[in-house]
Amino acid sequence: MSRPVHYPRIASFKTTGEFRAYLKQSKLTLELDDELIAGRDAPLAQPYRLSNGFVVGNRFCVLPMEGWDGELDGSPSELTIRRWQRFGSSGAKLVWGGEAVAVRQDGRANPNQLVINEKTLAGLANLRESLIAAHTERFGKADDLLIGLQLTHSGRFCRPNDKKRLEPKIAYHHPLLDRKFGLPSDYAVMTDDDIARLIEDFVAAAQRAYRAGFAFVDIKHCHGYLGHEFLSAVERPGRYGGSFEDRTRFVCEIVAGIRATAPQLQIGVRLSAFDFVPFRPGVNGMGEPERFDGAVYRYAFGGDGTGVGIDLAEPKKFLDLLASLDVKMVCVTAASPYYNPHLMRPAMFPPSDGYQPPEDPLVGVARQINVVKELKKYRPDVTLVGSAYSYLQEFLPNVAQHVVRNRHADFVGLGRMMLAYPDLVADVLAGNPLQRKRICRTFSDCTTAPRNGLVSGCYPLDEYYKQRPEAKELEVVKRKR
Ligand SMILES: Cc1cc2nc3c(=O)[nH]c(=O)nc-3n(C[C@H](O)[C@H](O)[C@H](O)COP(=O)(O)O)c2cc1C
Ligand code: SF4
Repeated sequence: MSRPVHYPRIASFKTTGEFRAYLKQSKLTLELDDELIAGRDAPLAQPYRLSNGFVVGNRFCVLPMEGWDGELDGSPSELTIRRWQRFGSSGAKLVWGGEAVAVRQDGRANPNQLVINEKTLAGLANLRESLIAAHTERFGKADDLLIGLQLTHSGRFCRPNDKKRLEPKIAYHHPLLDRKFGLPSDYAVMTDDDIARLIEDFVAAAQRAYRAGFAFVDIKHCHGYLGHEFLSAVERPGRYGGSFEDRTRFVCEIVAGIRATAPQLQIGVRLSAFDFVPFRPGVNGMGEPERFDGAVYRYAFGGDGTGVGIDLAEPKKFLDLLASLDVKMVCVTAASPYYNPHLMRPAMFPPSDGYQPPEDPLVGVARQINVVKELKKYRPDVTLVGSAYSYLQEFLPNVAQHVVRNRHADFVGLGRMMLAYPDLVADVLAGNPLQRKRICRTFSDCTTAPRNGLVSGCYPLDEYYKQRPEAKELEVVKRKR
């Protein structure tokens, strides 16, 4: 694992004071609390009332994370169940989607992604129940636990039949992504009729999720997958591209269909609130932005036209639109793991298909936290979950408490830390010191493994994965790099 030497390790800061001094010296806007409060008065332990009256028991949220480990028919496997049980026993009271679940076969991001249909429904219901059972066993009750299911179609990044073969479904021809992923200029774009059928599949999937007991569905609009691609389909003609109204018709029609057929089901959206151009390895493997033709980069939703800057005008408009549809739960994330992963999951060590971090990963953390802060200020009535906290490591609880205490977000979402050290939540809430050996150090093995056809998991820190045969295969893959 090579790594650039010039970003200090988080573990090298011994106190919040030292960490704050570094942030200041680096001109990073990221605030944190010195003292952590535990027990009843802990800001992170406060219940949160949703707009429908449901009270979520605390402010920790499990972010969706797939494991590339479902059965070929789209049902959960033993590994999937284990992951969800660990999510349940973490103590977090909001489970945002669990993991991406395809609404139909051709929308799977890999042949082992979960799919929701009549055949897999019992397995998905059991998955949810396993999470609840693990939660109840440890914490005694689950009436303040809210569990949703993330519904997706992977669009440009579908690999439904073969881990190595992309079978993209695209909303438009993206000049840089077409080139990067080898799509010819005459590759078929989804027609409006194709999209109308897909909307029906999303609605059917949501009805099934309701039958399986999920409290809400997330209509995924992030990470370069199809929902997200619509938001930047500025050049697409017809009903689903062009103006803001047409680019958001996809989500509006799905919401209308769900309201008509499963009115009790809540709806949320996971949103990449900003995006940049794709990055590629440059000198010394360091990430650098791809060049684009023309003066303005038009394909980044939430971008400012430079390709590497943010303009939240449209994301704010999108929140307004969702609120007008009574969709008042949004989980904020950024960009895409396929073409600019450092923005989405800041890491010291890149995954095998990535590049060396072009900025201190703390810049990426602060960027996402500050975007959520701005969105929360704009729409205090919309419940917002933030992401990308795992890189904060020892200081995760201090930043999380500051954010929630000051209402810069309603929930602190945890991704990778949930794979490495799910008990962090229970430890923080109980006022226990963190178990330092279990802290995610952003080695990216949980991404490198699936990029090389292996199941995902925390190979460096989770004993269960350390012992699996895939751990050896992963070592071989990493040695070859
Ligand atoms: C192995 C892995 C799988 C992921 N799968 C999903 C997914 O299925 N859906 C999704 O919206 N995000 C997914 N993500 C992104 C995470 O939800 C999260 O946004 C990201 O890891 C940043 O949060 P963190 O810093 O706490 O890890 C995945 C991340 C990882 C590491
Ligand atoms: S493999 Fe483990 S330590 Fe590495 S990034 Fe993933 S969760 Fe963190």
